[in-house]
Parts: sequence; structure tokens; C-alpha cells
Amino acid sequence: MNLDTGIRLAYLIAAVCFILALKALSGPKTARAGNLIGAAGMALAIGMTFATPSLSRFGLMVGAMAIGVVIGLPAARLVKMTAMPQMVAAFNGVGGGAAALIALAEFVKATPGSLAVYQVVEVLFGIVVGSVSFAGSAVAFAKLQELMTGRPITYPGQQVLNGVVATGILGLAIAACLSPHNWLIAVIGILGLLFGIAFVLPIGGADVPVLISLLNSFTGLAVAASGFVLHSVVLVVAGTLVGASGTLLTRMMSAAMGRSLPNILFSAFGSVITATAGADGTSGDRGVRSATAEDVAVLLAYSQKVIIVPGYGLAVAQAQHSARELADLLQARGVEVFYAIHPVAGRMPGHMNVLLAEANVPYDELKEMDEANPEFQSADVALVVGANDVVNPAAKNSPGSPIYGMPILAVDEARNIVFLKRSMRPGFAGIDNELLFDPKTTLLFGDAKDSLTKLVAAIKAL
Ligand code: TAP
Repeated sequence: MNLDTGIRLAYLIAAVCFILALKALSGPKTARAGNLIGAAGMALAIGMTFATPSLSRFGLMVGAMAIGVVIGLPAARLVKMTAMPQMVAAFNGVGGGAAALIALAEFVKATPGSLAVYQVVEVLFGIVVGSVSFAGSAVAFAKLQELMTGRPITYPGQQVLNGVVATGILGLAIAACLSPHNWLIAVIGILGLLFGIAFVLPIGGADVPVLISLLNSFTGLAVAASGFVLHSVVLVVAGTLVGASGTLLTRMMSAAMGRSLPNILFSAFGSVITATAGADGTSGDRGVRSATAEDVAVLLAYSQKVIIVPGYGLAVAQAQHSARELADLLQARGVEVFYAIHPVAGRMPGHMNVLLAEANVPYDELKEMDEANPEFQSADVALVVGANDVVNPAAKNSPGSPIYGMPILAVDEARNIVFLKRSMRPGFAGIDNELLFDPKTTLLFGDAKDSLTKLVAAIKAL
């Protein structure tokens, strides 16, 4: 076997590793192994690239990789779980930007007129999609990092303007195919950046994870396009895998929120708060039943079955360890306890599973929505920790509601419901939750971690 065949074979093995990694990453038990398999595939692909005989400028390559390692390694190790979405946005953005730059470099380096139309199309695709992904991810990062408002930014004629920019890109791209010039390609790249920014501005902070997943699929496609430009099979395969998995994830998230992708991208969801009670943090003139930690502790300790429903507030409060401690205590008293996980509880896919796994909650205590829902009828208490929209019965009872159709956890069927939250403010969707006013609901106001800690202390004191 000559070196060339060996390198191709290694790339094939790397591609198989990526596929196996994706498969393993889809379940919490195998996710760690999936990560390692993916990393091994990537290490093999990088190693083989260095073995390519025609390669030169090793110094530049090693230098670029060193910069990546110096920035990426500490960033990945030090990132907090709640900051994971913006980390993904940043990594995704640089991936898209790199793909755009590769396509641009290949175009500039080619002898004028030597590229066939299909090659110019490949280059243009890589530049446009890569720059949209780069700029869009940068704005998404700024929103999630709270460097700018997380609320949708809208202005009159916004979608028309976006349409004009998109049409401009298309028109110039056709012109560039007919007569490719460096300046034309540069203008298209700049318009791609502008479109990326304009496209993301009207999307609200909490919808940004869906957007990132979509931008991730764009990055994958841009990488696949640069694979075609560079005649690199492994880039084509890896880019296509990222593109396909990003698209599937986007679809799954949209379905789990009961909203279409166009609704997420174009409706500026979350810009209007329609909740009558709660927008100011109070219950308005409607009565709610609140209780002390001691009261709730008695209710929990003398129950037979308690279902914990974690939401965004649990993640923000970093209350996963306290939740586990409470569950352990209750289980030690003979109470059946498990966690009901809604697919979009929190702000990114799989967020709850990862947070609870970090607190060493056993996997078999995490029940997905379909498995958990039939259990609520026989639960003595549904303990809702910093969740709101994912338990709001308006999703099944109120056809006019923005979340109507979103599958929810059937918390309303439990005998008692306890909400741990700080105020009467609504969740991300900005709408009332009638369950807060239900006679069988008790509210324990306060930060989720503080409240759970108080509950633990109160149960220990019983
Ligand atoms: P939300 O409906 O946003 O409710 C979170 C609740 O947590 C709020 O009621 C808030 O009330 C409370 N909270 C916030 N900080 C807290 C703290 N430190 N301690 C205690 N409570 C706290 O969250 P959810 O039920 O998890 O629903 C997720 C939402 O995000 C859905 O609308 C979903 O569509 C959207 N979304 C999710 C994803 C993914 S993939 N997960 C993607 C896009 C959109 P207070 O302010 O009164 O405390």
C-alpha cells in the first residue's frame, strides 16, 4: 500500500469515527465514549494531513494550531455549564469563518479564469454560508453572553431589508459566476456578514439555541463546500455530517417547542410579555398560595411519590446538586423520586441531562417526557424547580396561546404541585401560567438553590 492509499484509508477511518461518535453522543450513557471516538477520528485526520507529501508551510500550520489550543483549551475547561450555549456559538462561528476564508483563499490563489463555473459556485457557497454563520454566531454569542439585549431587536421593514440583502447576494453571485473578480467575491462576503447579523437580530435570546443549531448546520455545509474546493473527502464527509445533524437537531427542537422553524426565525418571539399577572414580579390582584420551606418539607417527606421537574431556573441557580441532595434524602425515607425532563427545559438541547449528570443523578432517575407523563396522575407532588413554560397547560387548553401545541409535562395531573421560583414573573414565552393560581398549587418563593437547601435542612430536622 502506498502512502497516498494509506492516507485515504485513514481519512475513511476518521469519517467512520465521526459517524460512530454521533451515534454514541445521542445517549447519556455512551456520550463520553462518543466524544473520545470523535476526538480520536479528528486526531487521525489531522495526523494524516501532516503526512501528505505535497504539504509545505508546516510552521504556519503548527502556529495556527497552537493559537487554537491556547485559546480553546482553557475556554473549554473553564466554561460554566450555564455558559455552554455561548461557547457552542463561539466555536461554531469560528468554524464557519474558517470555511469562508479557505474558500476565499482558494479563489484568490487560482489563476484568473482557470476556475470552472461549478468551482466558482463551490467557492461562493463556502464564502456566503460561512460568513453568514460567522456573523450570525457572533451576534448569538453577544446575546447569550448579555453583551447586548437578549430581547428580539425589530424595526420597520426588517424582513424586507433582509430579503433585499439576500437577493443582492444572489444577484452578485450569479454575476460572479459569469465574470469572477476578486472585488465581487469580497463584496459578496461582506454582504454575507451583514446578512448574518441582520438575520439574527430579531431572534430572542431563549430561541438562540435553535438558531445556533441551524447555524451549526450552515457551518457544516460551508465546510463541506470547502471540502469540494480542496478536493478533501474527509472535509466533505465531516461537513455533511455536521450539516445533517444540525438540521435534524433544529427540527427536533422546533417540534419539542411546538413551533415551526419560520416562527422561531421570523416571529420575534419573546418580544412581547402578555402575562397579566407577573410581568412586574407580583401576582396582580389574584390570590396564590405560598408556603414556607418547612410546610413544603412536610408535604414532600410524607409523600409516596415525588416527581422533580427541572427547568431553566434550576440551571441558572446551579441548583442541581441541591436537587440531588433533596432527592437522596426523600429516597432514604422511602419516597419514590425521579426527574421528568422536558426536551427543551432550559436553554439548550440536553441541558438538563448534562446538569443532573454533573450532580451524579443516576440515569435511570431521568425520565423523558413521554415516559414521565403517565406517572403524574399517581404522583403526590410535582416539584417544579425553576420551570414554567414546559409545564404550562395553556399549551394544551388555549388555542390562541403562543405556546399552544407545545408538548408539556402533565404536572397539572399531580395531586399537589409545588413551584420553586423567585417571583410571579412568567417564563421565556412571557405568558400567564394558570397553574400558578390552581388551588392545588403551592409556591415557595426564592432562588431555587436557596429554597432547595432550606428544604433539605427542614427535612433533616423532621
Ligand atoms: P421558563 O419557562 O423560561 O421558566 C423559567 C422559570 O425559572 C421562570 O418562571 C423564572 O421565574 C424561574 N427562575 C429563573 N431564575 C431562577 C432562580 N435563580 N431560582 C428559581 N427560579 C428561577 O423555563 P422552562 O420551563 O425551562 O422552559 C424553557 C423555555 O425555553 C421554553 O419556552 C422553551 O421553548 C425555551 N427554549 C428552550 C430551548 C432548549 S433547546 N432547551 C431552546 C429554545 C427555547 P422567576 O423569575 O419568578 O424566578
